Amino acid sequence: MKKRPCIEILGTGRAVPERILTNQDLEKLVDTSDEWILARTGIQQRHIAEPGVPLSFFAAQAAQAALADAGASGEEIDLIILGTVTGDSKFPATACVVQDLIGAKSAAAFDVSAACSGFLYGLQLAESMMAMQGYRRILLIGGEILSSMVNWKDRDTCVLFGDGVGAVVLGPAQGSHGVLSTYIKSDGAFRDFLHSPGCGSLNPPSHENVDKMLHTIHMEGREVFRHAVTSMADALNQALDQAGVAVEELDLLIPHQANLRIIEAVGKRFRLSPDKIFVNVDRFGNTSAASIPIALDEARKAGRIASGSLVGMVTFGAGFTWAAAVIRL
Ligand SMILES: CC(C)(COP(=O)(O)OP(=O)(O)OC[C@H]1O[C@@H](n2cnc3c(N)ncnc32)[C@H](O)[C@@H]1OP(=O)(O)O)[C@@H](O)C(=O)NCCC(=O)NCCS
Repeated sequence: MKKRPCIEILGTGRAVPERILTNQDLEKLVDTSDEWILARTGIQQRHIAEPGVPLSFFAAQAAQAALADAGASGEEIDLIILGTVTGDSKFPATACVVQDLIGAKSAAAFDVSAACSGFLYGLQLAESMMAMQGYRRILLIGGEILSSMVNWKDRDTCVLFGDGVGAVVLGPAQGSHGVLSTYIKSDGAFRDFLHSPGCGSLNPPSHENVDKMLHTIHMEGREVFRHAVTSMADALNQALDQAGVAVEELDLLIPHQANLRIIEAVGKRFRLSPDKIFVNVDRFGNTSAASIPIALDEARKAGRIASGSLVGMVTFGAGFTWAAAVIRL
């Protein structure tokens, strides 16, 4: 039996920095090539914020776009959840900064730290909190300024990431449209395969730790790749089961845009034809928590999905964390 949704998407929005960094630009920074990056990742370019422009700047823009799309105002928002690992500062939560910027005076606001799974973790939180607390309007944002923690001398990682923000406005489901299932999972035993070990209480900021580049992204690419494919397949299966939906029924799968090869491997496991899988990693790179909401907004506004479409979303990230959801738009 298909689950009756309790929460639905009322509007979507996105904002990315204007500045574009191409593979050719990266060839001037590290020993790499356009051919290598394209063949291994599918990425051609990424948007990069000007130094010092914080996440909240783009998050407020994406939020305003989602509010306009939903026909809602900042004052109507009860709750703001922001998935990110690159907030403006360690505290307060960047969600509180966004609250002030968009005039959401009645809202509670907090950040969620689940790396690339931040948006789907936030979606499950939003669903639960709307059911239990009776909220009417929730602003869910996924956003990153990953360029602020990239080591621009490390060719293993600097070619992969980009900056941007996506946002959705959620309200109580009125009928059969809405979030049909959410599934989240993590395994901290793998935390060292993808992490930024510096600047927290483990390795507090010091000249020595900054010299060692502990504040930047460290990654075991092959391990991440291997776990990403199996975990994303597991999460999507769980979310489909919970929703009572067969994979063939999906109108579109929106996978986390980390790498075209991971996306293709997941698609192959589910025997999905490429036209049913949304891809924009070529233009944005991996924007972590922002990648699914940016893709969702693009897919809607390009007419790939519309009211009534059945959409799967699936992700994997540092932690390790992984998650999936099925929605009827
Ligand atoms: C990072 C990734 C693209 C690397 O691809 P790979 O096929 O595993 O490549 P390897 O790491 O085995 O490296 C192969 C060679 O390319 C080199 N290389 C690494 N980065 C390079 C770059 N940007 N340009 C050129 N060569 C590069 C390596 O040094 C290595 O050289 P060697 O054989 O002389 O040692 C791939 O592992 C991956 O996509 N992992 C998942 C990353 C990810 O998505 N992370 C975020 C998850 S949310």
